[in-house]
Amino acid sequence: MLNRVTIDNIEQINELQSIFNVVFKQKNELINTLTNNPYIHLYTYCVDKNIVAFIEFSIMYDRCELDNIYVLELYRKKGIASLLLEFMIEVCKNNKTKNITLEVREDNNPAIQLYQKYGFQKKAIRHNYYGDCNGILMEKEMV
Ligand SMILES: CC(C)(COP(=O)(O)OP(=O)(O)OC[C@H]1O[C@@H](n2cnc3c(N)ncnc32)[C@H](O)[C@@H]1OP(=O)(O)O)[C@@H](O)C(=O)NCCC(=O)NCCS
Repeated sequence: MLNRVTIDNIEQINELQSIFNVVFKQKNELINTLTNNPYIHLYTYCVDKNIVAFIEFSIMYDRCELDNIYVLELYRKKGIASLLLEFMIEVCKNNKTKNITLEVREDNNPAIQLYQKYGFQKKAIRHNYYGDCNGILMEKEMV
């Protein structure tokens, strides 16, 4: 089950803290983002009422950036990330988004495979973007 996290249901965040530590190091940072960034879409995915995954993307006018997608290790390879990506693509279609971009570590094969499965193509390499590793810029055109 997918749930949108907004500043109005921020009380969820205590139970989310461990999983959100991946991207939001501090609870305050998440509160700031939800308060000040009108473009953010943050959704959690639950199994048996436990949050096991999330997706964060930003839709700015006719463009979308996938900021993060994360599935707890125990729940991987079960199609959850696919479901989250399909949901984001649907939201983008409804918003008449022209393209979706993302940045991924060059050594993150599972993620690259996932993105390619959904039509993302490698567009550019950012050398040492992550310090120890190149970043790959990927794009999915929606038209
Ligand atoms: C990448 C990640 C989100 C995939 O989540 P998932 O729920 O396991 O993915 P799915 O089960 O929906 O798999 C969909 C596709 O992704 C690819 N994939 C997923 N795990 C993979 C793996 N270990 N090796 C290779 N390809 C993999 C495959 O193409 C798969 O399609 P298939 O089942 O037809 O082979 C997950 O591994 C994760 O959370 N990793 C840590 C966080 C991360 O790296 N996020 C991306 C940041 S850019």
